[in-house]
Amino acid sequence: MSVYLGIDIGTSGTKTVVCREDGTILATANAEHPSYYPQPGWSEQEPADWWHSTVSSVRQALARAGVAGREVRGIGLSGQMHGSVFLDGQGNVLRRAILWNDQRTAEQCEQIEHAVGGRERLIQLVSNPAFTGFTAPKILWVRQHEPHIYERTRKILLPKDYIRYRLTGEFVTEVSDASGTLLLDVAGRRWCRAILEKLQIDEELLPRCVESQEITGYLTPAAGNELGLPAGVPVVGGAGDQAAGAVGNGVVRAGILSATMGTSGVIFAHSDCVQTDPQGRVHTMCHAVKGAWHLMGVVLSAGGSLQWFRNHFATQEIRLAAERQVDAYDLILALAEQAPPGAEGLFFLPHLTGERHPYSDPLARGAWIGLTVRHGWRHLARAVVEGATFALRDCLSVMIEMGLEPKQIRLSGGGARSAFWRRLQADIYGHKVALINATEGPACGVALLAMVGTGAYASVPEACDAVIRVTEEISPCPERKAFYERCYATYRQLYPALRHLFPQLARLVHS
Ligand code: XUL
Repeated sequence: MSVYLGIDIGTSGTKTVVCREDGTILATANAEHPSYYPQPGWSEQEPADWWHSTVSSVRQALARAGVAGREVRGIGLSGQMHGSVFLDGQGNVLRRAILWNDQRTAEQCEQIEHAVGGRERLIQLVSNPAFTGFTAPKILWVRQHEPHIYERTRKILLPKDYIRYRLTGEFVTEVSDASGTLLLDVAGRRWCRAILEKLQIDEELLPRCVESQEITGYLTPAAGNELGLPAGVPVVGGAGDQAAGAVGNGVVRAGILSATMGTSGVIFAHSDCVQTDPQGRVHTMCHAVKGAWHLMGVVLSAGGSLQWFRNHFATQEIRLAAERQVDAYDLILALAEQAPPGAEGLFFLPHLTGERHPYSDPLARGAWIGLTVRHGWRHLARAVVEGATFALRDCLSVMIEMGLEPKQIRLSGGGARSAFWRRLQADIYGHKVALINATEGPACGVALLAMVGTGAYASVPEACDAVIRVTEEISPCPERKAFYERCYATYRQLYPALRHLFPQLARLVHS
């Protein structure tokens, strides 16, 4: 039997899937790795921990699948994007990796915009404005605050590319993950000389950048030994977690989008050409599909808002759920559904951890707006679910404004598991939503890339066609769609009306 491994180095742990060529998942395994928060707003991990969780999840997945190492034909890598690993000339890690959710680089983001001649010019060069989580500001931060580390740095890698280095000994990245560094000419799919010069970053510090399906190297005997695999297994480029998840959802053709409601919420759209929003209200990045790009809108606390609501307002439901051995979210959503659409004029802004899209604002705050004595717990819950969905609709609206024509939005994450939330998404997005047969997201996506890279399929869309099927499609209800259109018109005025107050709120801390 021929099998392929998809390895996803996520923020909470590493997941490995063992997949057959027809897409059948034979086994999956997860292994956790810790995070470190040395100061408020900082977020770091130890690259060695990623390696240990990779070894552990690969070994477990192979054992569960009952396949021998020699049956593995290829490996694909996915991972949390934007993180930075600093290596010396011998390939040793010089400091903990600084992660995508680290907020220490506001000053460096300003410096980058200034160095290139402003935000608009930056967007022209690399298709995105500067975000604190991106890689380039982290490089500047280390250069300024830890010059002793920077002086010894010979390579800077993204998380999954560090694992590639451990697997193959090669320094390589691929276009989808490299798009999140702020150093890639996204339109040209190569490192951007102009920005590297302006920021005085030597291109030698960066890995070689290839297309996502290309073979980047072969498993070394030492790595094979640790993983229980033979030397020589090809490792393809793979993709950043969002592009990898999109391949796993079959979002590889124009008109097909996905809406993923995890802690963060992501609207992801395939695009056959480079389209950039001059205001930078969504990301433009290379897709893991050769010759294609994607638009991506990220809402930082979408499902995270419901998780917050559960943790702080649903102790009774959590207890009941434990007694009945059901999921507390199911109980909360069933009660939320009992409130009327629009929660009688109650809105919720889900910016509990600042916001990335469509407005980048680290100080943005959450809010319930429109409370009256008639409102109770169910209204509050419904407003949270609707607010998270309106926030994703905000990103979708930017894409539509840019000319995108959605034909189908494929749902995944927590928002796809509830029938109520699925219907709500169809009504609020105003487009058909769909479920698919595959649920293993990024890890499955990069297993497909490994199949393409090693010749089992001719292209990524061909691999997706062979493996991914739509299992359910939901059209919006015309009456509710029209009502939510009116609600959305109000929702989108709320953040601009409150924005000027958020910095004041941030300063109101009693010492
Ligand atoms: C994408 C992003 C996250 C991280 C962590 O821009 O910030 O998806 O990759 O999952």
